[in-house]
Amino acid sequence: MNSIDVCLSPKFIELYDLKGKVVVVVDILRATSCITTGIANGVKSITPFELLEDCKKMKNKGYFIAGERGGKKVEGFDIGNSPFSYMEEHLKGKKIAITTTNGTLAIELSKDASEIIIGSFLNISSIASYLVLQKKDVLIFCAGWKGLVNLEDTLFAGALAKMLESEFYFSDDAVVVAKSSYENLDNNILSAVQNSSHAKRLRKFNVTRDIEFCLIHDKYNIVPIIRGNEIVRL
Ligand code: MLT
Repeated sequence: MNSIDVCLSPKFIELYDLKGKVVVVVDILRATSCITTGIANGVKSITPFELLEDCKKMKNKGYFIAGERGGKKVEGFDIGNSPFSYMEEHLKGKKIAITTTNGTLAIELSKDASEIIIGSFLNISSIASYLVLQKKDVLIFCAGWKGLVNLEDTLFAGALAKMLESEFYFSDDAVVVAKSSYENLDNNILSAVQNSSHAKRLRKFNVTRDIEFCLIHDKYNIVPIIRGNEIVRL
């Protein structure tokens, strides 16, 4: 039986050996929800960048550039970090370069893994089915907020661990913490996340419908996966 772990914050990532593992990167509000929505709506590929300047340079290579810092769209970029922006017709078949505060850093920190896939509530069942088929150890990697543990990513990790508990063994307590948090809040996950620190931060910028959208379960039946340095549809 394979193992499943949860890394609750990038601050802990050095404690985990990623070799041979499938890493599920999650940033519910909003990076991985955006990436999943874009790929599901026909975006050709999404290339993540940790640094803003590196992402900006991709404009000259014909990419759309998407960026967010502190919850706000980066000045001069084509796209911010709302999943609704990733549904636009003109992005179908196009390549996007993306940089965000936490999500793209977590993807960058996962590079030693054997596979990196993108998780969100929007595609949680597809992720679960894929992991069972892979028969590899799994790490659910929560992007958090600037090194701090956040609620929404932890709840996703708990929900996924609960879906997989008959197929994998839990090899550290972070999985148990995440799963019990999810089980405690399962019935009113929306109101719980509405009161999360990042939801409050986003509301200051009048961002509201993104939060509800990012908590929809199984809107898309896709597995976004890193191939080379870009995210594509499996
Ligand atoms: C992040 O990477 O921190 C988030 O995606 C931020 C956001 O979208 O507000």
